[in-house]
Amino acid sequence: MKIFAHRGAAGTYPENTMVAFIEAKRSGADGIELDVQLSKDGIPVVIHDETLNRTTNGSGFVKDQTMGDMKKLNAGYKFGKQLGRRIPIPSLQEVFEWIQSTDLLCNIELKNGVYLYPGLEEKVIQLVRGYGLEERVILSSFNHYSLVYAWRLAPEIETAPLYRDGIYMPWVYASSIGSRGMHPSIHAVPDALIIDAMAYGIQVRPYTINGEEDIKRLLSINCSAIITDFPERAVRIRELNRS
Ligand code: G3P
Ligand code: MG
Repeated sequence: MKIFAHRGAAGTYPENTMVAFIEAKRSGADGIELDVQLSKDGIPVVIHDETLNRTTNGSGFVKDQTMGDMKKLNAGYKFGKQLGRRIPIPSLQEVFEWIQSTDLLCNIELKNGVYLYPGLEEKVIQLVRGYGLEERVILSSFNHYSLVYAWRLAPEIETAPLYRDGIYMPWVYASSIGSRGMHPSIHAVPDALIIDAMAYGIQVRPYTINGEEDIKRLLSINCSAIITDFPERAVRIRELNRS
């Protein structure tokens, strides 16, 4: 079972920042999950919300500000732990500059459910190809039209639909939109369904799996991967399970 660090290691570091991604690597995670929106000047920017308000000392919409403007902000500002310095919002390119020197997998969640961000798929795919990360990237989204569009543009890059509610035979659905994986909320998938999907050849990576019992249960059915805020915890439980 692979371990993806949700928004980096969002349980212990400011989400979607380089310090969180570096912590994910240190903890022994196999990959990171991050969220991407598009800035006013068309740069894929790593941030979860459509606005800057919750996670930074800025305000307003990401789509209305340039990457240069947003670079001045502090994405660690509202994080409880004192980090003693300003934590910038990263661009996707910056994350790729760093990740290429690691062996981490990278799940890029396209946050194009509220704003469609025309051109987001093309820009992300161009970066993935530019850095030669096609084999290590998984594109996911709650916007499944976007995933089909991305699949047609770049069939070599894996896609995986995100969903929260019950889909009937989701492995058939995922295949029908060109996806090799699926990323359900854990509340949408009983164990038997995960087992059936994997038997069909679909990679199942539920989110967000933080509790010890859930981690152990998913290990016991050899779930393809989990997406967790606490990668260190999940890695420790996986190690104990091996011995
Ligand atoms: O990709 C899994 C998870 O990140 C989806 O929900 O809101 O945390 O981006 P959210
Ligand atoms: Mg996400």
